Amino acid sequence: MKRMLSGIKPTGRVTLGNYIGAIKPFVSYQDEYEMFIFIANLHSMTIYQEPKELRQNTRDLIALYIAAGLDPDKVTLFLQSDVYEHAQLGWYLGCMVSMGELSRMTQYKDKASKLGKDESIGAGIFNYPSLMNADILLYDPDYVPVGEDQKQHVELCRDIAERFNKRYSETFKIPEPLVSKVGGRIMDLQNPTKKMSKSEETNKGTIYILDDINVSKKKIKSAVTDSDSHIHYDPINKPGISNLLEIYSIISNKSIEDIEKQYDGCGYGVFKTDLAEVVGAELERIQARYKEITTGSYLDDVLAAGAAKARPVARKKLAKVERKIGITIKKR
Ligand code: TYM
Repeated sequence: MKRMLSGIKPTGRVTLGNYIGAIKPFVSYQDEYEMFIFIANLHSMTIYQEPKELRQNTRDLIALYIAAGLDPDKVTLFLQSDVYEHAQLGWYLGCMVSMGELSRMTQYKDKASKLGKDESIGAGIFNYPSLMNADILLYDPDYVPVGEDQKQHVELCRDIAERFNKRYSETFKIPEPLVSKVGGRIMDLQNPTKKMSKSEETNKGTIYILDDINVSKKKIKSAVTDSDSHIHYDPINKPGISNLLEIYSIISNKSIEDIEKQYDGCGYGVFKTDLAEVVGAELERIQARYKEITTGSYLDDVLAAGAAKARPVARKKLAKVERKIGITIKKR
């Protein structure tokens, strides 16, 4: 079985973009791949998190993975902070990447460009990719499924793995980023040229998975489209309707072509109303399951079992790295 690994940060409330880009696809992968999925809570510390909210967001995220259909008996689901090897390998790999490489990362450049004049950027956000490289390389995955925005980080990870292998001999498998053609970049419903994100300023264009379902349906019905009425997939010229077609396709498991045929000549109003129902039904199913699994100690048990499965894999790889680089001083 080939191996897959991915992570998601517990910052803010989970959006439909996260769900479509990085939660729902994993449900279909879990029977075909050996999967490691973790909550990137160390990465979330790169921006200040109110402790109570961080706790709640972390629990919500684990619950949402399971509510979406991930089976903790099949998938290793764990917290990044429970496996100390991530931080340790992150340090070694941080010593192998250049300032130039880190400063070319779009995520860092974006954050840096949005700073107010009296604000300064944390060192954690700059060195973010080193920890991400460790997350990945500890587990030798074949594939790293991510949204479009994280592809550059996985490419840097490949470079660093190759650098390490060349310097110290073959140690890490070179991972492939896996970005879905449909759903890899879900756009803001009010501004379809911008990624749907967690930040509050885009509230009207963002659907939150645990929000009131009627509010979400309204957001879909008032999504920005264009002045035409032809339901056709063309992300360059018709970004609004194309985004809605992607959402429809992923949630309903139908191809975009089939949906185009189904709505041929129908106009945007009918299409949006139906999509609101399709998304509403999916959210209802997830929210019901979320309620069931957030009572009692179930989530804590899942995380304990997940960390117990992840640790030996990470420990073995870190031990190998430490022998190769000369940190381990025992001869054998
Ligand atoms: P994060 O939490 O920002 O995003 C989690 C995943 O969701 C994807 N995503 C989207 N996909 C489609 N449309 C959108 N609008 C959208 N917004 C977000 C992201 O691409 C991502 O796949 N650095 C990672 C977390 C991480 C990680 C890792 C991932 C840490 N270590 C190792 C893979 C492997 C991140 O920023 O996640």
